[in-house]
Amino acid sequence: MTSRTTNRDAFASTLGAFAATLGSAVGLGNIWKFPYLTGSNGGAAFVLAYLLAVALVGLPVMVVEHAIGRRMRLDAVRAYEKVIPGQRRWAIIGWAGMASALLIMAFYTDVAGWVFAYVFKSIAAAATGAPLTPETFGALAGGTWEPLGWQVAVLVLTCGIIAAGVSKGIEKVTKTLMPLLLVLLVICDVRALTLPGAARGVAYLFQPDLGKITGTVLLSALGLAFFKLSLGMGTMTTYGSYLPAETRIVPNAARVALADTLVSLLAGLAIFPTVFALGGTPAGGPGLLFNTIPLVFAKMPFGGLFTALFFVLAAIATIGAMVSLIEVPVAFLVEKGHVRRPAAAVITGAIMLALGVLATLSQGSVLSGVKLFGKSFFDLFDFLSSNVLLPVGGLAIAVVGGWLLSKDDFLAEVGRAPKAWYGPVVRHVVRYLAPVAILLILLSGLGVIRLG
Ligand code: TRP
Repeated sequence: MTSRTTNRDAFASTLGAFAATLGSAVGLGNIWKFPYLTGSNGGAAFVLAYLLAVALVGLPVMVVEHAIGRRMRLDAVRAYEKVIPGQRRWAIIGWAGMASALLIMAFYTDVAGWVFAYVFKSIAAAATGAPLTPETFGALAGGTWEPLGWQVAVLVLTCGIIAAGVSKGIEKVTKTLMPLLLVLLVICDVRALTLPGAARGVAYLFQPDLGKITGTVLLSALGLAFFKLSLGMGTMTTYGSYLPAETRIVPNAARVALADTLVSLLAGLAIFPTVFALGGTPAGGPGLLFNTIPLVFAKMPFGGLFTALFFVLAAIATIGAMVSLIEVPVAFLVEKGHVRRPAAAVITGAIMLALGVLATLSQGSVLSGVKLFGKSFFDLFDFLSSNVLLPVGGLAIAVVGGWLLSKDDFLAEVGRAPKAWYGPVVRHVVRYLAPVAILLILLSGLGVIRLG
């Protein structure tokens, strides 16, 4: 049997690679998780910590993942197994990444299911004139069969796209629809920012009270940076393996990080001014998005239609992100296990569903009383992936890329001075700043040490 690595799928162009990478980054993290974490961590101080985490840790880790992926042109497990000759132990990054993908998908498909349900609920609301209220959301998220049904639908859809192949499946969908989401977010922003009292929401986002920065806040911000940019578990390594040889890794990663952060801030600018103007509470928890967006649109003509459109686009962005999560175990099963792509998609989907049921039923239904380490399954999967596995994975990736990969091999992918002046700079950040920051934040966020 010939090696499958010789005829691997790949992104067709640099623009395609940018769009697909952004398609993985943009998702529920921007419109659901960023606002909800900002609200429950006190606002602008969290936003500031998050922006720093993206620039100083997220960006360099993305560069390393893309570099290692493109250098090896293999699935994540084998890329890390072979990238440092004689040190097969780093395959653990790929294995841990697979565990993260499964944990993330367990709660991600639950939330994605809420988004899909809201597409239909908002259309029904527009038709009947009965508004979407916090009770609508509570009944959905806290239910049993309704959220489970949506979760299954979401998984079937995503696995179908994955079974169809990398460039065809991922690139097309994300490339065409991303700009539309942006336009709709801007419309939301204009409406939200012109509500009386909106200024308090803007201040909440951008006037930091530095006293609010604690170890826990820093760890949440760091975890969000990893989660947002799909880092620390091999997704971006796998995507790196599809990058064209001529794509310049640092500018591409910088554009992705910038665009992704912009989408998050636009979402925040739609949500917080509305929350303050209409008397909601910023610490609204996971329901924040679902309870706020219908209110923004209720204040404008054709609001019902816009609400429906918003959730349609959110659903599409969600698919792009989920596709990239499922891609990690699927690429591995296909290339290492020699399983056919559709079969790999089914196997992966089934495991995700098994974990997903636990997460979904812990949100108010039959498993809501079950707590592990004081957390529901939903919160535990979220915490373990974003605040433990992804940062630890990112730390290992920075060590492999910065310390074990030779300078020459690193710069061969990332670029050399003088043409790529930033190559050596990025390498220093990868060697010193990123790993030290991750380590300190992890230890303080988990309560092992106290910062300040
Ligand atoms: N970045 C996506 C979001 O913000 C989620 C995501 C997709 C992800 N692929 C990932 C997170 C890989 C961590 C790792 O919604």
